[in-house]
Amino acid sequence: MAPDMASVVSWPFSFSILSLSISLLLFLLLAIKTKSCKKKNLPPGDMGLPWIGETVQFYQAQVKNRLYHEFVLPRMAKHGPIFKTRLMGEPTVVVIGAEANRFFLSNEFKFVISSWPTASVELMGKDSIMGKGPELHRWLRGAFASCLNCAALEALAPKVCGLVTAHLDTSWRGRESVHLFHSAKILAFSIVCECLLGIKAEKGLVETFERVLGGVFAVAVEVPGSEFWKAKRARKEIGKVLRGVVRERKEEMERGLREEEELMLLSRLVLGLVRGEVSEEEVVDNVVLLIFAAHDTTALAISMIFRMLGHHPHCYDRLLQEHVEINKGKRDGESLTWEDVQKMKYTWQVARESMRLFPPIFGSFRKAIVDIDYKGFKIPKGWKVLWTMHGTHYDPQYFPQPEIFDPSRFEKPMPPYVFIPFGGGQRSCAGYQLAKLNMLIFIHYIVTRFEWSLLDPHEPIVVDPLPFPSKGMPIKIYPKLL
Ligand code: HEM
Repeated sequence: MAPDMASVVSWPFSFSILSLSISLLLFLLLAIKTKSCKKKNLPPGDMGLPWIGETVQFYQAQVKNRLYHEFVLPRMAKHGPIFKTRLMGEPTVVVIGAEANRFFLSNEFKFVISSWPTASVELMGKDSIMGKGPELHRWLRGAFASCLNCAALEALAPKVCGLVTAHLDTSWRGRESVHLFHSAKILAFSIVCECLLGIKAEKGLVETFERVLGGVFAVAVEVPGSEFWKAKRARKEIGKVLRGVVRERKEEMERGLREEEELMLLSRLVLGLVRGEVSEEEVVDNVVLLIFAAHDTTALAISMIFRMLGHHPHCYDRLLQEHVEINKGKRDGESLTWEDVQKMKYTWQVARESMRLFPPIFGSFRKAIVDIDYKGFKIPKGWKVLWTMHGTHYDPQYFPQPEIFDPSRFEKPMPPYVFIPFGGGQRSCAGYQLAKLNMLIFIHYIVTRFEWSLLDPHEPIVVDPLPFPSKGMPIKIYPKLL
């Protein structure tokens, strides 16, 4: 009996000792951690729970398209424009501001390299440009540039016009409403396939790409039925189709049947294959990446332009006037030329202001390949760096009253690394000129051929895994008398 009593009496005492010891241990660990952070001079910030870190808070804000306002801003207010966190198991430093953009974007391969989640790399293809070292990156950028520069696109303008008008004739005429986001996406998809690759955007191919997209930010475990598993299967189907196209193109080229197509990007890549400069997998993976990079981004940009025009009728009147003027010198059915597109100055201001407020890409990750000293802080080798567009796009220093839509901001040139929807430095968007051409030509034909209005002016923008209007952006349309 006595020993039992003793244990009952001493239990609260033992418990107090135990909790005191645990508290002391935690305090010591925290003190050691703080001291070691200070010693290493890591940026301030909270690493959150072990492994998970602040991943949950990050995703919760991301799905609502509030990553900047609900994740970045509160931490920036607490710690300043460089802070550390832990995302998806990786220690990460978030950097904000034009100077940070310049530093991290222009030091690719020297201090940092592009770094994507494992699932994205596996689904885009490990041989795509995003994971490649400096030599192949340079080769691919050269190939892309030779087919996506202004001279090449000048030649492509009539073809893009043809695809846009055919799309409007088949998918818009005779209807009272359309889903602008879906329409812009299918169109951007066909423009890349037909203008850059010379392949027909067969029905069903875009859906297969959608299935791949569903897995790019999933956990990279191939459990049957999981998002990643489904995405992997879809990616295999795409790989098979594209491998067939590449082999056919190679054979035709070896038989001398394809020389006239030097401006076609796929032919340029296959030429590299024939010469032994790239492998077949490198060609296939980069074609997949190009298609992905091109269509969702352009579709969101177009949707947000129309959303802003719907909310700002005086801007729409001015934009419409620009297109009416361009049409004045044209015969019925005559295509737009490169010069016509250059005249769309106000439209491009509207497009840039919309992309400032709604950048299609939030930012992206880099990985430190050396220990980096930046602004008095150390970023250890192997840590991730996340840069974001919003940090400068919403900074009143550059954009007074940043929440307000005002295309006239773009009448003056912007300081470098401030307005960066297309990124910057060595990895800046390779398709910038094509995206611009696609957007301006599509806008031209919509506004000159249709009356339109937003059916849900405040439709939420959600993210899965890229931002899109939650209902596909329905608009009411009515054909104009030409
Ligand atoms: C509005 C439309 C678009 C936006 C906002 C956009 C945005 C971006 C951004 C921000 C990056 C840099 C990512 C980083 O630094 O990690 C990028 C890279 C890239 N973009 Fe675009 N993009 C658009 C359209 C296109 C189109 C139409 C194409 C192809 C025809 C394209 C092809 C690429 C490629 C290949 C890269 C990778 C470049 C490299 O790693 O060197 N993009 N894009």
